[in-house]
Amino acid sequence: MDRIAIIGGARLAGEIPISGAKNSAIKLMAASLLTDETLRLTNMPRLADTRFLGKLLQRLGTEVVESVGEDGPETLLRTAEITSGFAPYDLVRQMRASFNVLGPLLARTGQAKVSLPGGCTIGARPVDLHLKALEALGARIDLHEGYVYAQAPRGLKGGQIDFPFNSVGATEHAMLAAVLADGETTITNAACEPELIDLADCLNAMGAKVSGAGTPVIRIQGVGRLHGATHAVMPDRIETGTFAVAAAMAGGEVRLTRTRCDFIQALIDKMVEAGVEVTPHNDGLTVRRNGGLLKAVEIETGVYPGFATDLQAQFMALMTLADGESVIKETIFENRFMHAPELARLGAEITVQGGEARVRGIDHLTGAQVMATDLRASVSLVIAGLAARGETMVNRVYHLDRGFERLEEKLSACGAQIRRIKGDGEGDED
Ligand code: UD1
Repeated sequence: MDRIAIIGGARLAGEIPISGAKNSAIKLMAASLLTDETLRLTNMPRLADTRFLGKLLQRLGTEVVESVGEDGPETLLRTAEITSGFAPYDLVRQMRASFNVLGPLLARTGQAKVSLPGGCTIGARPVDLHLKALEALGARIDLHEGYVYAQAPRGLKGGQIDFPFNSVGATEHAMLAAVLADGETTITNAACEPELIDLADCLNAMGAKVSGAGTPVIRIQGVGRLHGATHAVMPDRIETGTFAVAAAMAGGEVRLTRTRCDFIQALIDKMVEAGVEVTPHNDGLTVRRNGGLLKAVEIETGVYPGFATDLQAQFMALMTLADGESVIKETIFENRFMHAPELARLGAEITVQGGEARVRGIDHLTGAQVMATDLRASVSLVIAGLAARGETMVNRVYHLDRGFERLEEKLSACGAQIRRIKGDGEGDED
């Protein structure tokens, strides 16, 4: 298994181009199942997760071609015919978002057999809302031996989907299924994350009629068929936020390009409060910190536009060096503080109780061997390693490869002393 070694202490200076968003790309890829024509996705991130979903789609009948276009990496997906409606456990277990092929399969062919994703290291993460949404569109759902058997022999029918609370995955799934349903669907209490807007824009480019994405009420007028389209994947707001925190933690000045700062406003507000200089520009933002002491600030994760749970671990790393005590509340996922004991191996002083962590800032971190159990937790250890004295060795790097494109390359281009030590590859889930 690969490891990443970091010698801390180097200040960062330079420019980092942000890649297309992983969490958007994998849902956009699933949308290609809805048409027999070609969906061309540009600004595609090349990640373990997108490769992985490509493999699953190929099993279902999609032709997947990766190429490099005028504006960077792109992927062409064409599902002339769905040759199998079966997504096996082995494939869905490894990446939870694979479950989102269920809705498109059902919408296009009237049946599907998809494995339940199973548990995950950041909490229970059920899929009950996904299934209720499909039932509201007239699907018959049966669960047997870990599989969802879904049927809609006469096609899906538009319906009313009222979510009891926000779920990004379930809202996306409902949208993916409803675009080909007969009649109008209304989704209330929909998640408002920018990835929902990206998915709606892509579906609309394919001929769907989706309005209200990005607000709590989404309306979808079903259409008989969708056609091919070209769509640029939105910039990755979590990668943007991660490098912003990395620059703040290591010190120096980094310009993040090909992205948008309004997507991470909640993070920027907290970084500014902590004493980091952030300058927005039309292509992204510049983050600057020149040696000044960081101030401890409190954060609470929340649904968009709140503080993203996927940036909580990185911000905790930053707070380990702040002056005073920071309180970090996690409200989206239970058990999402697995990075705390690993940061403690670098010397951080963190106590966790329930959904709340208290971080008492210290003078410096010291490099050590660390290991992490999910994607965002792993990158928080890399960020901490950039500022730690001596060498930090991050084990189980396959998590990072799932969600960060060329992480070491992008950081070392800004002067970080970071290198990958090759081993055997392996996959896991977010
Ligand atoms: C997505 C992102 C993930 C991010 C999360 C929250 C992808 C691939 N992943 O995950 O990186 O951390 O949004 O911004 O896009 N829930 C239920 N029942 C369900 C579905 C969800 O109880 O059927 C709960 C979850 O356990 C969690 C909460 O709802 O407590 C929010 O989860 P959700 O927004 O669905 O997250 P994901 O879509 O899985």
